[in-house]
Amino acid sequence: MSYYVDDYLPDLGPDDADITSHDAYTTGVPHATFNRLRTDDPVHWTDEADGSGFWSILRYDDALAVSHDVETFTSTKGIRLEEMDEEETKARLTMMELDPPEHTRYRRLVNKGFTRRTVESYEEEIRQLAVEVIEAALPKGEFDFVHEIAEQLPMRMLGRLLGTSDEDGHRLVAWGDALLGNTDPDFTDTPVDLTDTEAYRMVPFRSPASIQIFSYAQEQAADRRACPRDDIITKLLAPMADGKRLTDLEFNNFFTLLVAAGNDTTRYTMTHALWSMMNNPALWEAWQANPDLTPTAVEEVLRTSSVTMHFRRTATRDIELRGKTIRAGDKVVIWFPSANHDPEAFDRPYRYDLGRERNDHMAFGRNGPHLCLGAWLARMEVRLVFEQLMKRVDRFEPAGPIDHLRSNFIAGIKKLPVRVV
Ligand code: HEM
Repeated sequence: MSYYVDDYLPDLGPDDADITSHDAYTTGVPHATFNRLRTDDPVHWTDEADGSGFWSILRYDDALAVSHDVETFTSTKGIRLEEMDEEETKARLTMMELDPPEHTRYRRLVNKGFTRRTVESYEEEIRQLAVEVIEAALPKGEFDFVHEIAEQLPMRMLGRLLGTSDEDGHRLVAWGDALLGNTDPDFTDTPVDLTDTEAYRMVPFRSPASIQIFSYAQEQAADRRACPRDDIITKLLAPMADGKRLTDLEFNNFFTLLVAAGNDTTRYTMTHALWSMMNNPALWEAWQANPDLTPTAVEEVLRTSSVTMHFRRTATRDIELRGKTIRAGDKVVIWFPSANHDPEAFDRPYRYDLGRERNDHMAFGRNGPHLCLGAWLARMEVRLVFEQLMKRVDRFEPAGPIDHLRSNFIAGIKKLPVRVV
C-alpha cells in the first residue's frame, strides 16, 4: 500500500487571483496563483488601493531568510497586511509586534507552559478530552466536523491551560472567531473591509469582540490576583525578568493573542486534514492501517494545511533579494502556503505523503524568534484526534458542501458536514 496520493487538492484555483482580496479565498487558497508567482517572480511587488504596496516572499529559502534576519526585517511596524499607524500599533501591541530582546522578555512569561516537554506531560489529559469529544459526536452519525470535533478539543484544552472554565470556552471561541474571522460576515457584524471600523481601530483586529475579551480578561486577572493558581493567566501576571509586570493593556492584548491564536488555527488544521482525506480516501486507509506513520503524517497535515497564510515584516534598510531592491520601510509579506509548496524545498509538493521524510515545513514559521508558541500543543492535538478517530471510524463521507473562511490571513474551513461510516 502506498502512503501518498499525488495532486491531493481537487482544485488549485485560478492562476490570476488577487492575493490581497479576502474574497479570493472563499473558494480555497489560490495555489495556482501562488505557484505562478513563485516561479515567475518570487519576490513580487503588489500595489495596494491605499497607495502603498508590499513585497511577497514566495520561495521557501527566502521565507526562512526573512524570518531569521530580524534586524533587517522588523516586526515592530505590524505583522499582517493591515496597515496600522503608530498610535494603533502601540495600543494593540503584543509580543508578535516586538523584536528581540524585548520580544524575549515577554515570551518568557509563558514559554515554559508550551515547551515540548511540558506539552508531553499533558498527553493523557488531551487524549481523554479527544475521546470525550469524539464519543459525544460519533453517535450523531451525521454532523458538522468543525463544530462537533475540531473546535471542541483546542477550545477545552486552551481553557484548561489558561485556567478558564469549560462553560466560558464557548464565549472565548466566539470572540476568537470574530477576531481571526474579522473579514468574514459569518463571524462578525463588522467585517473590517466592508464596514466602518474606525471606532475599533485601537483594539486588536479592529473588532468589537476585543472589547468583550478585554473585560473578561480583567475579571480573570482580578480573580488570579486574589487567588493565584498554576495556570497561564497567573503566569502572565507575574513579574518579567526585569522585575516589571505587564500593564493592564499589555495583559489584555496578551490574553487576546492567546485566545485568537490558540483555537481557530488548530481547528482548521484538523479540518483541512479530514477534508483532504475525504477527497483522497487512500490516505485515511493508509494511515489507519499504519499507525507508525503518525509522526510524519502529522507534519504532512501541517504542511499541506498551512492555515496561517501570511505574516508580514518591514524592511529596516535597503536590501537586494533575487534581483529586486527592497527599500527601507517597505512591507515584506511571507506567504506560508507558497513556501510550503515550493518544489525546491519539498519533493513533489502536491503529493500528500504521509511518510514524507524531509519535511521542514513552515506552518508554524521557522528559523526565527516568533516561531509559533503553540506548535507542540497543536501537533499533539492533531495527532490525538486522528489517533482516536481512526480507532473508531472506517470512513467519513461528505454530507454537504464545505464553506471557506473569507480571509487572506487564515485558511479556514468553517463547515465540513460529514457522515460516519
Ligand atoms: C496548527 C495550529 C497553528 C498554526 C498553523 C500556527 C501558526 C503560527 C505561525 C505561522 C506563527 C508565526 C511564526 C513566525 O512569525 O515566525 C505563530 C505564532 C504564534 N502562535 Fe501559533 N499556530 C498554531 C497554533 C497555536 C496555538 C495552539 C497557540 C497557543 C496556544 C499558538 C500561539 C501562538 C503565539 C502566541 C504566536 C506568537 C509567537 C511570538 O510572537 O513569539 N499557536 N503561529
